[in-house]
Amino acid sequence: MKDKIEKIQAEIEAYRAEQPEQAEAFRLKYLTKKGVIPSLFGEFKNIPPEQKKEFGKILNGLKQKAEQKYRELKEAVDRKSDQLTDDIDLTLPADFMPTGSRHPISIVRNQMIDIFKRIGFTVYTGPEIEDDWHNFSALNFVEDHPARDMQDTFFIEKDPDILLRTHTSSAQIRAMQQTQPPIRQIYPGRVFRNEAISARSHCIFHQIEGLYVDENVSFVDLKQTLYYFAKEFYGQDVQVRFRPSYFPFTEPSAEMDVSCFLCGGKGCKICKHTGWVEILGCGMVDPNVLSNCNINPEKYTGFAFGIGIERTTMVKYQIEDIRLFFENDVRFLEQFRSVV
Ligand code: PHE
Repeated sequence: MKDKIEKIQAEIEAYRAEQPEQAEAFRLKYLTKKGVIPSLFGEFKNIPPEQKKEFGKILNGLKQKAEQKYRELKEAVDRKSDQLTDDIDLTLPADFMPTGSRHPISIVRNQMIDIFKRIGFTVYTGPEIEDDWHNFSALNFVEDHPARDMQDTFFIEKDPDILLRTHTSSAQIRAMQQTQPPIRQIYPGRVFRNEAISARSHCIFHQIEGLYVDENVSFVDLKQTLYYFAKEFYGQDVQVRFRPSYFPFTEPSAEMDVSCFLCGGKGCKICKHTGWVEILGCGMVDPNVLSNCNINPEKYTGFAFGIGIERTTMVKYQIEDIRLFFENDVRFLEQFRSVV
């Protein structure tokens, strides 16, 4: 027994700790309930009574030594880790951390949302998976309209038709079903069309559509709102023109062009030497569409418009291939780092 105690005592004295874990290992090994020292106390009952006094002293001494050693070890490792923190040179330059950049589509979308928010429009988004009614029927597309054709639409299910929305106008329908006028909203989102992918067109792209329905909304409101948008987005000198067009859900319908901001209207590659760039479709909401959504067309009128974000971004940053937006090549995306 005596030998055993001496051996343990030597071990304790020789114990070294560099790390906090090693100090903790010491405590676990010697001092915890099932540790070496408490189990020595367990053996105390086997000692002949006449030796008990002597061994009691030795054992208590050992216990105190171990406790003292543990305090020393702990203090030493704690001091060491404090020193480590002191060693950090706060004046050194920080490690280089590469920052990301916003995607050009997000940049342009956010700019557009900001502009419309300033004149009272709020953002509403609908689902990308739609039914035929929200995407087509409610928007006054007749049964055999070519846009319903398999060529343009990605169908998920037939009868009843479930599809990937081909425009965010379906979100306008959902909004009008849920709220009575006044409604003044914009609808940013992804849309899908079954088109061959080329430099000019893609099967996925982004739109921001807008809708304003209230009493006495007229074509003048439409023109002024979109004129304001064009000036904010392209600069105060921009000129706009409206050309008659056709959409099933608006009557009358128009397309809006802006004067080419690159050549100022003189003619260049971007405007195909016409001096004008087409940027959106628009029109007065067809009364049928209002009735389809339980809005009284005798009382309310409205206008709607739809802007293609890819097209606008391509023109703005002179990007010649729409596929660049979807390839996520860092060399392309990095170029927009300074734009917020
Ligand atoms: N929904 C049309 C499109 O996708 C755009 C549009 C919206 C036109 C609203 C007029 C009014 O092409």
